[in-house]
Amino acid sequence: MEELSPRSVMQTAVRPPMIMVSGEGSWLVDSNGKRYLDFVQGWAVNCLGHCAPVVVDALARQSRLLINPSPAFYNVGMLELANLITHYSELDRVFFCNTGAEANEGAIKLARKWGQIHKNGAFQIITFDNSFHGRTLATMSASGKAQWTTLFEPKVPGFIKVPFNRIEAVESVITDQCVAIMLELVQGEGGVIPADPEFIDQLQQLAKSRSLLLIIDEVQTGVGRTGPLFCFQRYGIQPDIFTLGKGLGGGVPLAALVASESVAVFAPGDQGGTYNGNPLMTAVGVGVLKTVADPKFLELSHAMSIYLVQTLQTMSDRFGLSGTRGMGLLQALILNSDDASTIVSVAMERGLLLNAPQPNIIRFMPSLVVSKEEIDLMAEILSKILSDIF
Ligand SMILES: Cc1ncc(COP(=O)(O)O)c(C=O)c1O
Repeated sequence: MEELSPRSVMQTAVRPPMIMVSGEGSWLVDSNGKRYLDFVQGWAVNCLGHCAPVVVDALARQSRLLINPSPAFYNVGMLELANLITHYSELDRVFFCNTGAEANEGAIKLARKWGQIHKNGAFQIITFDNSFHGRTLATMSASGKAQWTTLFEPKVPGFIKVPFNRIEAVESVITDQCVAIMLELVQGEGGVIPADPEFIDQLQQLAKSRSLLLIIDEVQTGVGRTGPLFCFQRYGIQPDIFTLGKGLGGGVPLAALVASESVAVFAPGDQGGTYNGNPLMTAVGVGVLKTVADPKFLELSHAMSIYLVQTLQTMSDRFGLSGTRGMGLLQALILNSDDASTIVSVAMERGLLLNAPQPNIIRFMPSLVVSKEEIDLMAEILSKILSDIF
């Protein structure tokens, strides 16, 4: 066989030259047999680690039974997973899709339809600076990523961006044309910035008093990533709409748009997609969600998150850095300089995968079953790099 070359792949990302061939738990292996301790996990996707038995078994079992009867039919996984999500979230209706962006795109469409029916055609959605909601044209338009401001113009209209965690900024832009407020409770790509609890309380009251829908993007924070099953449970709020992706499929493409009964106004034909809610992916989702929703599982991953924070804080103290921030197993180490990308590159050479969402931020998103030993090993490799650099 001709040697594998990247020449036919569109260069939409700056990729290192190695080719990944296998994974198990917290470890990823390239074609030269080099092993990487993975604290990125496909950007917080493999919540049970690489090739988790729950995921592999569900795929094997379901692929022998039925892969895709078409979204025009119910299937067992679709019904079971929808019931689990409504049970745990206390919302009422679920639409399955393949990516977080698609789920958010659906949330935007659902809010606009609700606005047509219930708010005289109001369609504007208030979103936040530094937010990230995906890469379809509408979700890019909703996102507050500064580098995207002039990309793919003209953008989809109807999004008003305001500073995060500032209630007066939200209040000041509300008009009769506004239908919803959409946000992440921890801005992941923005640099792991948690929403202030007081801001979220005020936001919920404001949304209620001005008849605005509250849309929570839980693509990164959902499915146990920040402690409870859904991050909005940590804030003690109930959104009108929320979205899931990433961890829901434990590594396979699966996402969900979830809404309360009164907001779930899609009529047949309004929303859909060939692969949406297929039994292969939803069978995996059932296995993943049942695993993560177990209180004992969440207790253990909570304990690991405390250990990770302590470990990062110790490192920050030792190297005179600016501390940590985050929630659960979505954490950041804050540097005093813009060296995060350099550190991430050196870490990769030394067999540790980390991520730099901002120039001074190193992000940690290990699997929810990461062990103390793996956290210790990560700290050992990273400390050596920090002492070499600083
Ligand atoms: C908060 C948030 N929303 C949406 C998305 C988009 O998800 P996907 O890449 O599956 O389209 C991401 C991905 O990083 C995300 O972090």
